[in-house]
Amino acid sequence: MRVLSGIQPTGRFHWGNYFGAIQQYIELQQQHDGYYFIADLHALTTVRDAELLRQYKRDAALDLLALGLDPAKAVLFNQSDVPEVSQLTWILMTCTPMGLLERCHAYKDKVSRGLNADAGLFTYPVLMAADILAYDSNLVPVGQDQVQHIEVCRDLASSFNHQYGETFVLPEARLLSTSAKVPGTDGEKMSKSYNNTIELFEEPKALRKKIMRIATDSRPMEDAKDPETDHLYLLFKLFGAPDQVAAMAELYGKGGFGYGEIKKQLADAAENYYAEARQRRQEFASRPDTVKDILADGARRARLQATNVLTRVQDACGISKPF
Ligand code: ADP
Ligand code: TRP
Repeated sequence: MRVLSGIQPTGRFHWGNYFGAIQQYIELQQQHDGYYFIADLHALTTVRDAELLRQYKRDAALDLLALGLDPAKAVLFNQSDVPEVSQLTWILMTCTPMGLLERCHAYKDKVSRGLNADAGLFTYPVLMAADILAYDSNLVPVGQDQVQHIEVCRDLASSFNHQYGETFVLPEARLLSTSAKVPGTDGEKMSKSYNNTIELFEEPKALRKKIMRIATDSRPMEDAKDPETDHLYLLFKLFGAPDQVAAMAELYGKGGFGYGEIKKQLADAAENYYAEARQRRQEFASRPDTVKDILADGARRARLQATNVLTRVQDACGISKPF
């Protein structure tokens, strides 16, 4: 079973990205043939600064490797290092009804906010379909917001197969665990777009500062509180050991505690949780050539697969072998 997913390098990864996506990619690499890529071509629709994009790409690779994405188990690569995907995108585009893309939410949301959308954003789901189909992927782990794009991918693959004969493998979406909808510093869903994120490898001092600024409710300290409705507790639950989490739930049930103490415990737990990964990240950062080699090897392996699929597609639609 081939599992594939991409993550955009549009900023430093935060706790939401980790618990909502990256942690699950790493688990999936144990039982499946994993293909994971840094979606830099998709990021071009939002990051318009070359040096910043290069930095985000470096950070993404270092973060993924530090967190345990293992190049011996999974293929890790940059999206743009596989030009076959862009070639496949064009072919798929010729089979894509405009109406299908007009219904896609990234484009629709932008237009409904009165903003100008470019053709890159409009055709974004076709590039995503090519990402998936180029590797004969079976399973695509994604968050709820991407399910529509997997449907588009299936539609395009089926209509191509219908027109030209069986060519593409139809992928299935695998919804990433929704129990991990990580709250941000304001209690809303953590997201770069809401400016409420806590980055995985934030400097320890800055990390504590951010945690201390997490919004808390204004009920009297002595009141008992339902922990499951409190975002500070929900964050602690992600990092604390089970006995620590149980003790904290009890504390909420009794009331009479201060949020400052909880925040301190959260900061300690989060620091401890990522301590090993932070160490590994430093090691990778001090060996940029090793990281470059890992990505180059990933791209080589990904291209072998994508070339195979592209040839099949070109044969099917008449691009190849005119004589
Ligand atoms: P952002 O909202 O910060 O821009 P992305 O949309 O780039 O994040 O998300 C990348 C991946 O991380 C997606 O699979 C998404 O579902 C997951 N993710 C992002 N934020 C959260 C969150 N707060 N809780 C759970 N998963 C999240
Ligand atoms: N569009 C996805 C996101 O924003 C990233 C992505 C690009 C992707 N290509 C993909 C995810 C292919 C899964 C499969 O999160």
